[in-house]
Amino acid sequence: TRVLFVAPDGSEREAMAEDGHSLMETALRHGIDAISADCGGGCSCATCHVLVDPVWVDRLAPMNETESLMLEFVEDRQDNSRLSCQIELHPLLEGLRVILPSGGG
Ligand code: FES
Repeated sequence: TRVLFVAPDGSEREAMAEDGHSLMETALRHGIDAISADCGGGCSCATCHVLVDPVWVDRLAPMNETESLMLEFVEDRQDNSRLSCQIELHPLLEGLRVILPSGGG
């Protein structure tokens, strides 16, 4: 599944994701520095925060309570904020586009 990471400066990076992997794992494999994922996908660090392209927000599986709680620690949380370790990739998400937060960490 092909996904797109958009840096705050507008530059786009395309990445091929293995289905069943999370968006966070895909970012790490492709050296996307803005995602440090300190907790390794345990939904307990919020350093894998991304902003989902509004077109895609409703096509993702809804967030669970833990993710929503963790997002409260994110300073620049927005309506389309998600934790990328909680987004599992599958073929229906082909072309998914997410924006990397500018704050970093
Ligand atoms: Fe820590 Fe996602 S990697 S919350």
